[in-house]
Amino acid sequence: MKLSERDHKLLSAERLKATGRLASEIAHELNTPLGGILMYSHLVLEDFAEDDPRRENVVKINKLAHRCKIIVQGLLDFAHQENPRLKPVQINRILLDLIGFLEEHVLLRKISIHTHFDSALPKVLGDENKLEQVFINLIINAAQSMNGSGILTLRTELAPGTEMVRIECSDTGCGINNRHVDRIFEPFFTTKQRGKGTGLGLSICHGIVELHGGTITVESSKGRGSTFAISLPVADEDIEASHGGEFQHLGC
Ligand SMILES: Nc1ncnc2c1ncn2[C@@H]1O[C@H](COP(=O)(O)OP(=O)(O)O)[C@@H](O)[C@H]1O
Ligand SMILES: [Mg+2]
Repeated sequence: MKLSERDHKLLSAERLKATGRLASEIAHELNTPLGGILMYSHLVLEDFAEDDPRRENVVKINKLAHRCKIIVQGLLDFAHQENPRLKPVQINRILLDLIGFLEEHVLLRKISIHTHFDSALPKVLGDENKLEQVFINLIINAAQSMNGSGILTLRTELAPGTEMVRIECSDTGCGINNRHVDRIFEPFFTTKQRGKGTGLGLSICHGIVELHGGTITVESSKGRGSTFAISLPVADEDIEASHGGEFQHLGC
């Protein structure tokens, strides 16, 4: 049977979709255990003295796991671009899960995490994986700005008089220099030492929040801390139902 050009195109689009789905499923399954390997190899490293010869092997495990994580993330990004899924998600739950997962991280050990969650918070229409990525970036930045100790406050609310959920991530860290504040969302802008920062975190956050039809802003005071605020549109469950429960592209 000879396929027309149109059939070929449809077939390859279908194949791409199926590959995306498969990649996403595999990446999802691998993502959490890989995070665990990274975290526990960090913890093991901490237990070894600087001159302990066993460090070398653990450093290797950590580096290789890190490489896998980058590949998995690439797969997730790819899969989501092909077939992003927006569905009503509960931000409080995502944040709580993340705290549970990140609490043990070396960077957060001496940081007190305060939460002020609106218990009646409506759901937002979101891609859970991407939103997780946003919050992880903000939390890691906050922890880095506090150099390991301080207070991290996470707050959620329905912004008064609006249909937007507002999520705040505040720290008591070093704050942002006035002359840098306009540049922090630029790709590759970093004030961190080489090897410590890529300057991509906040630009990725900005991109993801925009895709959700939201905004991200910052207020900061040098030496006293910073507050990042994200606003995301509330999910309209009726719209969701009329689309059969699954959205095929972002921004609907
Ligand atoms: N919570 C924060 N406190 C102080 N400065 C911050 C904070 N978050 C981000 N920044 C500033 O914004 C810059 C860009 O952040 P980001 O895009 O995440 O890249 P990176 O963390 O790799 O430097 C950081 O280098 C830092 O100067
Ligand atoms: Mg960062």
